[in-house]
Amino acid sequence: MRQPLVVGNWKMNGSLSLTSELLHSIENGIDDKISSSVGICVPFVYLAAAVTGVSGIKLKIGAQTVSEHVSGAYTGEVSAGMLAELGCHWVLVGHSERRMYFKEGNDVLVLKAIAAQKSNLEPIYCVGETADERKAGDTFKVIESQLAALLNNKEIDLSKVVLAYEPVWAIGTGLTASPEEAQEVHAFIRDLIKQKAGDLADNVQILYGGSMNPSNAESLLQQNDIDGGLIGGASLDAEAFISICQKASI
Ligand code: PGA
Repeated sequence: MRQPLVVGNWKMNGSLSLTSELLHSIENGIDDKISSSVGICVPFVYLAAAVTGVSGIKLKIGAQTVSEHVSGAYTGEVSAGMLAELGCHWVLVGHSERRMYFKEGNDVLVLKAIAAQKSNLEPIYCVGETADERKAGDTFKVIESQLAALLNNKEIDLSKVVLAYEPVWAIGTGLTASPEEAQEVHAFIRDLIKQKAGDLADNVQILYGGSMNPSNAESLLQQNDIDGGLIGGASLDAEAFISICQKASI
């Protein structure tokens, strides 16, 4: 049985005061009725405030990217060891904005996931097709190629990876994949994992991300292979985010 998981991705938003206010409101909103695990990925500079500002039991903190290197002359980079030392639990790897704007490709992303696991961080590995790729009928091909390097790498412990399907055309656009469209891709992803890792695939959490909000969350989260959400915009609003966590707990 897979435990539902809802993770917020604040992207490059917030401030020091907002970090403590918003995390406080979110943590207070996580009552006994919420059975999903809950996380928030904040910008690097707010991580220290975030991890000290929450109890770390109901709500765990994550980063939005990580270096593939352990240490050394990589100006501006942050290593997995540094994030772990700070008390981070998760790290996003391969978010479409990293792939698109920072030209991070599948090979380097796998190295980032390996670096994360070596420091006991749990990578949330994101994949998703663009609108053009979907229109061209290439969705499955794109997802398969984005996942190939991860699934074929012997250094990756698939039992400690969370996957996130985030159709690029649905991110921050207000357009969401229909529950059926999303489920189709999630089932495809689980099948790919099954081909490599057998029954372990049944335990891998696969999150949906892309304009998930309190109105559409329930129908998405009811799908068999959708185990939670990766939430951008709605994670900046405590009430909306908590409402999604409640829907993931039904
Ligand atoms: P969104 O972002 O919920 O604002 O669409 C999701 C994400 O980019 O992780």
